Amino acid sequence: MDLGLAGKVVFVTGGSRGIGRATAVAFAREGARVAFSYHSDKEEAGVTAAAIGAEALAVRFDLADPESMGSAVAAVRERWGGIDVFVANAVRWPDSLPDPGRRFEDVPRQEWRDLLRPNVEGAIAGLQAVLPAMRGRPDGRIVLVSSDVARHRGPGTPGLGIYGSSKAALAGLANGLIAELGGDILVNIVTPGFTVTERNLAAMPQRLRDERAAHTPTGRLSTPEDVARAIVFLGSPANGNITGEVLNVTGGV
Ligand SMILES: NC(=O)c1ccc[n+]([C@@H]2O[C@H](COP(=O)([O-])OP(=O)(O)OC[C@H]3O[C@@H](n4cnc5c(N)ncnc54)[C@H](OP(=O)(O)O)[C@@H]3O)[C@@H](O)[C@H]2O)c1
Repeated sequence: MDLGLAGKVVFVTGGSRGIGRATAVAFAREGARVAFSYHSDKEEAGVTAAAIGAEALAVRFDLADPESMGSAVAAVRERWGGIDVFVANAVRWPDSLPDPGRRFEDVPRQEWRDLLRPNVEGAIAGLQAVLPAMRGRPDGRIVLVSSDVARHRGPGTPGLGIYGSSKAALAGLANGLIAELGGDILVNIVTPGFTVTERNLAAMPQRLRDERAAHTPTGRLSTPEDVARAIVFLGSPANGNITGEVLNVTGGV
């Protein structure tokens, strides 16, 4: 199937590693012109740029600094005139791994605000900055990358309630946007489950990953490329009339 992405301008936030990198590279393989953001790791951004090829554009952006999103979008517009596809993938992670022993009410206010504000306000600021660059172009697509921890399902994950609520906010954003943008710009959400990124490989020992895989209906954990393919489809003109949907890439968990 031709996804219709040749020549389209795609902007992926958080493309310096993980799911964002796989997504940026996958769009480039479909012939799109790909810009991506990094936050702290210019070296890893260079790795993504090299994988994309000559046309790559790496821009710096900090979810905690709405102004930086404006500059990032301005750089993409300067290079290519506008943006057809926006993938809101960047994330501010919790500073440490979830501590199941810590009670919810003991999380200091500064700590939860430092997590909530960049993820929620950063998503809003990103969309506000990018929409003027998208309006009036055909086949506009937005994909918001949420998480399965934002869903009311399964046994839950201790210690991830605040991170989960920051990802759940994306559903509310999408709900308003689909009504406003209608058929001009389709807006969808991809929710990965636990994905084998470099970060997760370092954080979780093989034994625990094997256990998780054994409890996954498909028998394996998702790769960044699995998630990327879902994002690329929803972000392409091949997605003709799907908007306001949530696509779970969890191996059936
Ligand atoms: N991995 C999973 O298991 C999983 C599961 C469910 C949902 N997700 C979602 O999938 C998306 C990608 O996750 P990932 O695992 O691929 O993440 P990752 O490998 O840790 O990469 C995170 C990306 O976000 C950037 N970033 C970090 N802090 C930032 C900030 N303050 N402002 C702007 N950008 C920032 C990083 O840039 P630098 O490297 O330059 O700092 C990097 O490009 C996230 O939205 C996450 O919530 C992931």
